[in-house]
Amino acid sequence: NSSAPVVVVLDGPAGTGKSTVSREIAAQLGYSFLDTGAMYRAMTFWLLNAGVDVDDADAVAVASGKPVIVSGTDAAGPTITVDGVDVSGPIREQPVTAAVSAVSAVAEVRTRLVELQRASALHAERGIVAEGRDMGTVVFPRADVKVFLTASAETRAARRAAQLGVTDLTEIAAILADINRRDTADSSRATAPLRKADDAVEVDTSEMTPDQVVAHIIGLVHQRVAAR
Ligand code: DC
Repeated sequence: NSSAPVVVVLDGPAGTGKSTVSREIAAQLGYSFLDTGAMYRAMTFWLLNAGVDVDDADAVAVASGKPVIVSGTDAAGPTITVDGVDVSGPIREQPVTAAVSAVSAVAEVRTRLVELQRASALHAERGIVAEGRDMGTVVFPRADVKVFLTASAETRAARRAAQLGVTDLTEIAAILADINRRDTADSSRATAPLRKADDAVEVDTSEMTPDQVVAHIIGLVHQRVAAR
């Protein structure tokens, strides 16, 4: 259907450059941008604040219906609010990062957020770039372009360290351990594990600059849109 919004999805583990690259692709194409990790983080932030034990899946399931999570999809300045409050700062902090894998493994949480994610795509004007872990496999199985980004664990740890301004080797080793722990948790959970969709194009970003990755994927989008 050539009048429906173009759906471009990027999945992959943390530290592949997924967020930076997705947002830039959306900005260059004039599409909406959806950071679905931010939604899982916002849910986690709310649960922690509400005093819910995030390791108690039943408690998380019950409580997860309460917060109102809204993602602003402007690529020039994406926003995320919970019950009307901007949480873009605190959702990047350590307590949320440490707890988000447990929360995102709960099926009720996923059902609720997936619904919001699909609604965002319906409301997109020309197209949407959605990034996460299960965009190509579960949320948008019929996406126009599916990309799966990878990079070596060491590359990903180095990028994360640079982002955080960390230079201490022991701290970098801890970051690497944390990345490996989250990857294992995200890839081995029962509900919507991190996995490359069969029809996704895999791009290894270890030796690429963000600009190169952006240009490569925009090329794929142009090819696909021309063929619609
Ligand atoms: O991309 P990120 O680091 O902000 O994602 C935070 C967590 O949310 C990550 O550990 C896995 C989870 N997540 C998910 O389960 N499904 C998604 N579509 C996006 C993120």
